[in-house]
Amino acid sequence: MNQPLKLGVIGDPIAHSKSPIMHAAALRERGIAGDYSALHVKPDRLEDTIRTMREEGYRGLNVTIPHKEHVMQYLDELAEDARRIGAVNTIVNEAGRLIGRNTDGIGYVRSLKEEAAAELTGRRIVVLGAGGAARGIIYALAAEKPNRITLLNRTPERAQALAAEWSDLADIAALPSSRTAEALQDADLVINTTSVGMHPNMEDVPLDIELLKGTEIVSDLIYNPLETRLLRSARQKGCRVHGGLGMFVYQGAYAFEYWTGASAPVDAMRSAVLANMKL
Ligand code: ATR
Repeated sequence: MNQPLKLGVIGDPIAHSKSPIMHAAALRERGIAGDYSALHVKPDRLEDTIRTMREEGYRGLNVTIPHKEHVMQYLDELAEDARRIGAVNTIVNEAGRLIGRNTDGIGYVRSLKEEAAAELTGRRIVVLGAGGAARGIIYALAAEKPNRITLLNRTPERAQALAAEWSDLADIAALPSSRTAEALQDADLVINTTSVGMHPNMEDVPLDIELLKGTEIVSDLIYNPLETRLLRSARQKGCRVHGGLGMFVYQGAYAFEYWTGASAPVDAMRSAVLANMKL
C-alpha cells in the first residue's frame, strides 16, 4: 500500500487560498489517498519549512506570495522554466531531491488555448504589465511561436528590460503606455497581467476600452472578480473574453499531474473553486 501523499501550499498570508479545496477535490475525484494542507509560513521560517518538507516526506508543495523567488535557493534543482522566469510555484520531491518548477505560465497558456484561442502561433499579442505574473505567462507564450509580443507597462524601463532579456525567445518589443493605441491597432490578443481592476478596485480598467475595437480576444489574469470591468466591456464590444480562474485551475492541474502522475480532473477542480467562491 502506498502511503497517503503529503501535499500543501506555503504562503503568507495563506488563509484565503483556494488551493486546498481544489486539490482535495482532485485527489477525491481520482481516488488518490492524500492530504493537501495550507501552511502559513512567515519569511523567516521558509528555510526550516523546506527542511521539514524533506524530513516529513512531502511529495510536493505549491508556493505562493511572498516565497516564489526566495524558495529557489533551498531547492536541489530548478526546471528550465522556473530558472528563466525566476520564480517557483511548485516543488516536486523526487526521492529526496527537491525540484522547483513554474506551472503558472504553462497553466495560463493551457487555459487560454482550451477556453479562448486554440491556436496562438502567428498571433499578435499585447501584454499589459511587466511584473512577476507577466514573466511567467510571456515565457510560456513565447513557446507558442506568436508573430510578436508587445509589452506595455506603466514603468517603461521594466518592460524594456524584460523584452531585452527574452529577445532570444520571441519577437518581443516594449512600448511606453503613451503608445498604447499604436500597440493595439492590429493586436489579436490583449492580456492584462496588472492588478488594475482587482477587488476591491473593481471599477478600474488598465486601458482605454475604446482601443479594443478590433481585438479578437481579451484576457485578464484577475479572477476576483471573475469578470473584471475590462472583460465585461470587451465582451460588450464583441471581443471573446478569457478570465483568470482558468490560469489558477490549470497551474494546479500541472502541479497535480507532476505529483501524482494522474491526469488532473480540471472540471472537478474548477467546480470546487467556484462553489467555494460563492459561499
Ligand atoms: P505581479 O507579481 O502580480 O505581477 P508586480 O511584480 O508588483 O506583481 O507587478 C505588478 C504589475 O502591475 C506591474 O507591471 C505594475 O506596473 P509598474 O511596473 O509600473 O509598477 C502594474 N501595475 C500595478 N498597479 C498599476 C496601476 N495602478 N496602473 C498601471 N499599472 C499597474
